[in-house]
Formats: sequence, structure tokens, C-alpha cells
Amino acid sequence: MNEDLKALIRTIPDFPKPGIQFRDITTLLLDAHGLATAVDRMAAAAPEPIDLVAGIEARGFLFAAALAVPLKAGCLLIRKDGKLPGATIAEDYALEYGEDRIAMHADACAPGARVLLVDDLIATGGTARAAVRLLRKAGAEVVQAQFLIDLPDLGGAGALAADGVPVASLLAFP
Ligand code: PRP
Ligand code: ADE
Repeated sequence: MNEDLKALIRTIPDFPKPGIQFRDITTLLLDAHGLATAVDRMAAAAPEPIDLVAGIEARGFLFAAALAVPLKAGCLLIRKDGKLPGATIAEDYALEYGEDRIAMHADACAPGARVLLVDDLIATGGTARAAVRLLRKAGAEVVQAQFLIDLPDLGGAGALAADGVPVASLLAFP
């Protein structure tokens, strides 16, 4: 199961720096059937009801908006700091290859909202765990975190589960 989708992911060695095996989703995005299949399978794995699908910039936006439509949910943008026009709340996090800060509009989510967090990939989990802290600060209930790709050797999905978030992903590398 899902080997068909795995075959559509391209691996680029040493990007963006030596030692990183970059799992490139652009090849899956270019494939009409592959993209629709990935979105259908992610939507089928989501608990219902979902009030908001929260996507993490940039690649997470693609899957969050696509999932929000069949789940009949709104789409909440979690952006790199400094990009949102309204009042924001923010969280710092460490990446597999650097550091960053993410933010969301402080009023984006009603207290108790059932939120599905979505990104294309989880590696160390630094980004997704910061997103969960942010959503919880805003009063959300993060009912699941979904990823197209998990890199289990980097431990992110396990850390997120230990934070109390049910985690699902379609593909695992290596
Ligand atoms: C990638 C990916 C995840 C994050 C996963 O995004 O889309 O958001 O890294 O890494 P982690 O689990 O170690 O935190 P990136 O920061 O490269 O940004 P981009 O989507 O804008 O390319
Ligand atoms: N984000 C963090 N690590 C990554 C990887 N190995 N491939 C693609 N995106 C990533």
C-alpha cells in the first residue's frame, strides 16, 4: 500500500547541504493521479469532524487546502514569522538544517476548535511540534497531525505522539 505514491517521490542527495537526502515532492505534485490519490488517502485517514485544517508554510499549504475541501473544514495558515498581516502569536523551533520561527493569526481559531495539522513531511518534528504549541496556545484541540512523508529515523513522529497528538503519514523513508 502506498508504494505507488512512494515511487513518485524523488530523492536528491546533499540538498540543501551535504548529508541531507532531500525527499522531493514536486514529482508527485506533477502527477495528476498521484496528487489526487495522496489527497484522497490523507482525507480518508482523518478523524471527523474537523473544524480547521492547519497547514505549515510552504509545502504544507498545498495539502492543507486540498484536504480542507473534502473534509468541509476551513484552512488555517501557519506561516514563517513576519508574513501575516494581523496580530500574531509565534513559536521558535529547530530544523534538521537550521532554525526558524512560525506564526499564526492570534484570532484564527475559536477555543476548542478541532484542528487537523498537515505538512508534507516530518523529520525531527521541530516544525510540527512548534505548530502544535502554537495551536494549543490559541485554544485549539489538535485531533491529528498528518504528513505525506515521515522520516522515522529522525524521531519527529514519535516526539509528536509523546506530546499527545495522534500522528498519521502515508509514506516512510528510507
Ligand atoms: C520542511 C518540511 C517541514 C519541515 C520538516 O520545511 O516541509 O515543514 O521541513 O522538518 P522538521 O520535522 O525537522 O521540523 P522547510 O522548513 O524546509 O520549509 P519549506 O516548506 O518552506 O521548504
Ligand atoms: N525537510 C526536512 N528534512 C527534509 C528532507 N530530508 N527532505 C525534504 N524536506 C525536508
